[in-house]
Amino acid sequence: MIIDAILSPPEIDLLPGKDLRRTVCVVFDILRATSSIVTALAHGTVAVRPVLTIEEAFAERERWPDAILGGERHGDRIEGFDLGNSPMEYCRPDLRRIITTTTNGTVALRACAGAETVIVGALLNMEAVRSHLRQMEPERIALVCAGTGRDLALEDVLAAGMLATLLPDASLTDAAETAVALYEKHAANLNAALRQSANGRVLVERGRGGDVDWCAQVSKFSVIGVMRDGVIETV
Ligand code: MLT
Repeated sequence: MIIDAILSPPEIDLLPGKDLRRTVCVVFDILRATSSIVTALAHGTVAVRPVLTIEEAFAERERWPDAILGGERHGDRIEGFDLGNSPMEYCRPDLRRIITTTTNGTVALRACAGAETVIVGALLNMEAVRSHLRQMEPERIALVCAGTGRDLALEDVLAAGMLATLLPDASLTDAAETAVALYEKHAANLNAALRQSANGRVLVERGRGGDVDWCAQVSKFSVIGVMRDGVIETV
């Protein structure tokens, strides 16, 4: 098993042009898109459709009239949407279907659409993802770090490094080794690292420190979300 890491958005832009048919992509947007999706799935959501634009979200709701619209732009709920992108908003049992668009997370998920399998990764379901990958034993894994805007996001790379650490017999590319080194530096206090990250600081300044603490919890849920034909469902 070879583990690679896609560390930043400019690399994610190149994924649709790559042959990913024998690659399992695990997408991390720890603060907060994939953490919110995992939280929703853990609370009973049956399907999440990640979309790229606000217009696409409204158009998709024509096809899924019972779906709620969630997501963010500049960290805030989008006008006309039902929910924002705080994982706390997804801790409810009545959200059967969700259509979501976020600045980076949904872009990264969609960029992986050509992969053998696309798994929604978070610290929240880390052990479940590890165990699922162990059962699959894929030839190649790409740990896709959604980032922030055009930049690498520390928290996504830490999650990628943690997962690579949990699969010790895999061969790591240099990018994956880099993620592991960063994870090992911060492993003793992931919550502090998330709070010190650029995204974490912005969230704390905006009174959303609770979101950071939520997303920093490791293996709180055992749910696995897999995207097929553009829709994320539990397996
Ligand atoms: C994103 O997709 O860029 C993030 O999840 C942003 C956020 O939650 O504020």
